[in-house]
Amino acid sequence: MKLIFLGPPGAGKGTLAVRVKELLNAPHISTGAIFREAIAAKTSLGLKVKAIIDSGKLVDDETTIALVKERLAQADAQKGYILDGFPRTIAQAEALATFSPVDTVVNFDIPDPGVIERLSGRRVCRKCGFNWHTVFNPTKQEHVCDTCGGEVYIRDDDKPEAIGKRLEVYREQTAPLIAFYRAKGLLVDIDASPLVDEILISFKKAVGLQGL
Ligand code: AP5
Repeated sequence: MKLIFLGPPGAGKGTLAVRVKELLNAPHISTGAIFREAIAAKTSLGLKVKAIIDSGKLVDDETTIALVKERLAQADAQKGYILDGFPRTIAQAEALATFSPVDTVVNFDIPDPGVIERLSGRRVCRKCGFNWHTVFNPTKQEHVCDTCGGEVYIRDDDKPEAIGKRLEVYREQTAPLIAFYRAKGLLVDIDASPLVDEILISFKKAVGLQGL
């Protein structure tokens, strides 16, 4: 199954994708995570996108589309995938349709206060990338990942000034994709406000996977 997870920053797309990828036996492809890995490795891509990402703006379409096209050409993505954070503009959606049409777009519906609460409490493991939360899913020891022992940090784009910018960018450039995919009959909505176990149940119902 070829899926897009669409929704505002901090809606819980990455958290649900980690739970769902094993059920579907499909790779979880997050453009944000690919960019963060490039930044950590100080590649030319990383150096190019660091300031853009830290400020909460979008990386240009040309760079992002080329990156996703290359990733989706890999063997593990031929039968299905979960695309998390792509597309984020109409131009990206139109490009994706030419090289890998998707089956379903899952729209994570959550109001701004929920997003702000999730982003401001998020803590990320530098080693395994797991997303912890100071209130909803705290580590046992502060700054240390329970899973791998890695250092847990605050993403630069989770600082208050960048959160505001990301929400603005989402409303202007990404939210129009809801109508775009609804008109194509590909969109399903899920309420992303409850805890993740409940969202998982809604997700399975929405995409017809109740048996899993
Ligand atoms: P990206 O990494 O994709 O950021 P995002 O879309 O803003 O999404 P997040 O990772 O912030 O949130 P999420 O919905 O995955 O939430 P999470 O599960 O972590 O992109 C970063 C940047 O890269 C962009 O700003 C842009 O610059 C660039 N970029 C990426 N893709 C691009 C593209 N296509 N085009 C151009 N530029 C692009 O959850 C958040 C927190 O809440 C966590 O702490 C988690 O533990 C907690 N939580 C999650 N679910 C629940 C729940 N149900 N209940 C309670 N707590 C929960």
